Amino acid sequence: MSTPIDFARRERGRFYDELWRFLRIPSVSAKSEHDGDTERAAEWVRSQLEAAGLEAETIPTPGHPVVLGEWSGAGPDAPTILIYGHYDVQPPEPLELWDSPPFEPEIRDGRIYARGSADDKGQLFLHIKALEAHLATRGRLPVNVVVLAEGEEEVGSPNLVPFVKKHRDRLAADAVVISDSAMFAPGLPSLLFSLRGLAYFEIHATGPSTDLHSGAYGGAIRNPANALAKVIGDLHDENGRIAIRGFYDDIVDPSPETIAGFRQLPFDAEAYTGAVGAPPAGGESAYPPLERLWTRPTCDVCGLLSGYTGEGAKTVLPSKAMAKVSFRLVPGQSSERVKELLEAHLARVEPPGVDLELVELHGGRPWLARLEGPLYEAASRALEQSFGAAPVLAGEGGTIPIVVELEEILGASSLLLGFALPGANMHAPNEWFATDCFERGIDTLIRLYDELAAL
Ligand code: BES
Ligand code: MN
Ligand code: MN
Repeated sequence: MSTPIDFARRERGRFYDELWRFLRIPSVSAKSEHDGDTERAAEWVRSQLEAAGLEAETIPTPGHPVVLGEWSGAGPDAPTILIYGHYDVQPPEPLELWDSPPFEPEIRDGRIYARGSADDKGQLFLHIKALEAHLATRGRLPVNVVVLAEGEEEVGSPNLVPFVKKHRDRLAADAVVISDSAMFAPGLPSLLFSLRGLAYFEIHATGPSTDLHSGAYGGAIRNPANALAKVIGDLHDENGRIAIRGFYDDIVDPSPETIAGFRQLPFDAEAYTGAVGAPPAGGESAYPPLERLWTRPTCDVCGLLSGYTGEGAKTVLPSKAMAKVSFRLVPGQSSERVKELLEAHLARVEPPGVDLELVELHGGRPWLARLEGPLYEAASRALEQSFGAAPVLAGEGGTIPIVVELEEILGASSLLLGFALPGANMHAPNEWFATDCFERGIDTLIRLYDELAAL
């Protein structure tokens, strides 16, 4: 009889065909014009889970549907794992910077290029195929499984917490497994130690009641674009520290052992930033680059809007300006507290003649792994067998908002093992996922479910 791993090798061609169909669906959760596509992607996941042998349904929410897949044939004595992933993707724009269309997957140089290939359709798909391989060859899974696939991760998971609370009995699990992150380096898998949280705002600056002739009024009234630029510029001091009173007060620093572990990782900051055409500058100069990425908070302008930005010159004094500002948070910090501190800060720096208003968009809490033995050991063995190298413990600068909530509501620990590679262009043009990681990823997960049966 063939093993699940043999099955996955034999069926690889079909797996690619199916992944192609998934990647062709433009499930951009942020844009309502894609609501139909996002729903189609949910239905596609549901039918794949069902074809693999799970019971599956799509459940509507006030936003995009949640897909639930369930298999409980391992019995009440076997552990239950909850596999989380997201089927929505980021907008593909700017389209002109893609070398092949974002929703027409293409393999070049061992990489699958498409929006969502790495984040997160491709990685969610690995789990579905690993489940299928077990069920097709053995008629059973080594553990009970709940698959939770959402379509709103890229817009901050606004409806998922109420969903998880409402369905907590169906979602009950001993461990949560998530593949929505990256390996530390090619050939070097990682298990995540932490994720940063997020607090995302708009700052609106409003001045005169209308746009004005910049000669007739310039000098007589305050320009809200100038005022907002100063506010933004003053958010950091000359050492890259965030200049908001109290901002660092609640941070719980990582242990010296954690930091010592990070300092042993093979990391070349020049190469990391050089690959995106920049020197390793910016952030808090008092910390080495990996620690800035994993253990320190940030404040970044993600968008700016004001005045005339079309062709040529227009002498205008805009009546409004707006900045989108995101903060990455670390343990001890919360988006609620950052909002209070930023509100107080804006009240202090608001200049006469310009009104500053803060609008909160979304947030996500920082996550720290509970590095319990058996869960991590099981994953280490599975990764080592498939990649030929034991995983390193790594932090992560990005955010997956539901992780902390799942742990709290379900009382389970999470295991984050991702198969994207650094530089995979998540959220950017030319997103890719390595075919080698696709194939080894399925192998790893097949082994992982076996390993988890012994928990
Ligand atoms: N998969 C990413 C998070 C991530 C990125 C993990 C890189 C590891 C490496 C996730 O889809 C994501 O993009 N999260 C958003 C959250 C936000 C939209 C609430 C993020 O981090 O910006
Ligand atoms: Mn993701
Ligand atoms: Mn993402």
